[in-house]
Amino acid sequence: DGFTAEKLFNQGYSYTYDDVIFLPHYIDFPTDAVQLGTRVSRNVPLSIPCVASPMDTVSETTMAVAMAALGGIAFVHSNTTASEQAAMIRAAKSRRVPILSNPVFKPPSARIDSVDDFCGSPYILVTESGSAKSKLLGYVSRLEWEKQNNKEVKIYDYMVNSSVSAPSSFDLGQIDAFLGEKKANFVPLVKDDEVVELVTKEDVERIKGYPKLAAGSVGADGEWLVGASIGTREQDKERLEHLVKAGVNVVVLDSSQGNSIYQIEMIKYVKKTYPELDLIGGNVVTMYQAENLIQAGVDGLRVGMGSGSICTTQEVCAVGRGQATAVYKVSSIAYKSGVPVIADGGISNSGHIVKALSLGASTVMMGSFLAGSLEAPGSYEYQSGQRVKKYRGMGSLEAMTKGSDARYLGDTAKLKIAQGVVGAVKDKGSVLKFIPYTMQAVKQGFQDLGASSLQSAHDLLRNKVLRLEVRTGAAQVEGGVHGLVSFEKKYF
Ligand code: XMP
Repeated sequence: DGFTAEKLFNQGYSYTYDDVIFLPHYIDFPTDAVQLGTRVSRNVPLSIPCVASPMDTVSETTMAVAMAALGGIAFVHSNTTASEQAAMIRAAKSRRVPILSNPVFKPPSARIDSVDDFCGSPYILVTESGSAKSKLLGYVSRLEWEKQNNKEVKIYDYMVNSSVSAPSSFDLGQIDAFLGEKKANFVPLVKDDEVVELVTKEDVERIKGYPKLAAGSVGADGEWLVGASIGTREQDKERLEHLVKAGVNVVVLDSSQGNSIYQIEMIKYVKKTYPELDLIGGNVVTMYQAENLIQAGVDGLRVGMGSGSICTTQEVCAVGRGQATAVYKVSSIAYKSGVPVIADGGISNSGHIVKALSLGASTVMMGSFLAGSLEAPGSYEYQSGQRVKKYRGMGSLEAMTKGSDARYLGDTAKLKIAQGVVGAVKDKGSVLKFIPYTMQAVKQGFQDLGASSLQSAHDLLRNKVLRLEVRTGAAQVEGGVHGLVSFEKKYF
């Protein structure tokens, strides 16, 4: 019944996730028996198959900590200087608790001019020299400052003296107990005499209200796993040195067409210079492209061209592939060399994740799915009465003026043509809430397929047990909500 993947994807059509549908198989285990453990690259294991894309409206410190706490990983974007990118990685790795703001510091002799000086944090920490690494003297609370408005007065005249702190190795439960014991509203966490995080009671209560976190992604160093992107230009070698010093665990070469002499030379350089570091190549969509990068020595492949929600590559350049076909084709060659595949772009619901993983991917990389969350960079604004956050393509003109043109233009192009757009996505709340629910949905999909793990789904596909069909236009309409005058889509 139905088609094997081999037959379906060899008919000359480029299929997207929505074009295809899996036929259900046989269930002989409960949903919670489904294991979603996987690898993002040869030597980097994850407990959930979710990866945040290296985009400047998606992956910075806060997202990196949250994704690692969930058991996934984020790739910190490179649309910034090497030292800023390294600082984001360092900050993410030294934190433990997925909170939303960065600690802010001032010396006692400074003044606080406006509420903006708090940079979204409810407290300014006062340290001897005003840096994270100097002696902690006290704090100023934003609420108090707003009441008293001490603009003209130096901080030492009104700060609260307190050097209470806790070690950064404390987990949420320990922090909760510590705050209760000390009857404190917040605590700075310290590592090697440096304040790395400031956790408030509200943070603890908020995180406790989310589904319980499973095993987070922690490396051999006891810190979160954090990835990063780099380009293939000469200066990216220097950038990589910064990132390696910051402790990056896995690096992805960011290119929309990865099968190039530039990338292959970079792969050889990186694998020779940092043999211990996992390197992901891409993007690719064909078996030929994949083969070249595998031969050059990559530890993972990123698959997708033009399938991203903000992409215009297929329109602008006439090149790309439907994402379901691309993931199946590349996976069918990558698995022979043990190279995990990242299905990058085009994920807008849990069904797409089930399809990507069952077609051979080991993880999905997401942009728009994670953008608009509390953990994504930027602040919320209102558009037509809706709370939204900005989300933009890294090939959009706006992003390229900040430096991401290397990914889309290569070295020599003088005239800039955009391959992406700037937009906004709805407020989605915290990834700490919607990712666990999404994973539960993915487990249910796997159960319907009779696959108790990613490996089992891959085996069932290759052994021709999993069957698919193409959905006609009418079947796609029927498969969605239809025939209602109004409805609200709510999943949890
Ligand atoms: P989603 O669908 O998750 O896609 O929002 C995210 C992926 O899209 C790619 N990307 C781009 N592709 N022009 C493109 O053609 C762009 O400006 C652009 N920015 C990001 C990238 O692979 C990302 O992970």
